[in-house]
Amino acid sequence: MARIEQTLSIIKPDGVEKNVIGDVLSRFEAAGLRVAAIKMVHMTPEQAGGFYIVHKERPFYGELMEYMSSGPVVVLVLEGNDAISRNRDIMGATNPKEAAPGTIRADHAESIERNIVHGSDSPESAVVEIPYFFDDEEIF
Ligand code: CMP
Repeated sequence: MARIEQTLSIIKPDGVEKNVIGDVLSRFEAAGLRVAAIKMVHMTPEQAGGFYIVHKERPFYGELMEYMSSGPVVVLVLEGNDAISRNRDIMGATNPKEAAPGTIRADHAESIERNIVHGSDSPESAVVEIPYFFDDEEIF
């Protein structure tokens, strides 16, 4: 059964740099997801590291902190039926080489690291990731 969910989405520094914010937002909206919160943030390496703390032991963690703090990002709360899995379908696989045709990552991403967008991978992640960027009164 479909559930109304909220998920955290990030248009990463490469997405902002490539000037595809509007294209990415259009894809979410066309798929029935609603923007419930939005802001632009330029994270420090420490903020980026805190966000990705679950990846702390991974060999790519340092580079990920550097990349995610290399320029501004757009952070969003998306809301809709099955928003978490729907957002992941719209984004495509983490590795753009494996992403289905027509997905955001297949169309715009350069590499597994510079992969344009982030989306919460589960309800458990979403409830931690949303408050990392948004207070309750910023979500509509
Ligand atoms: P994201 O979905 O935001 O979750 C973790 C991020 O780490 C991922 O997208 C990529 O940006 C990055 N990442 C995942 N796997 C690798 C990898 N093997 N090498 C480099 N970066 C990676």
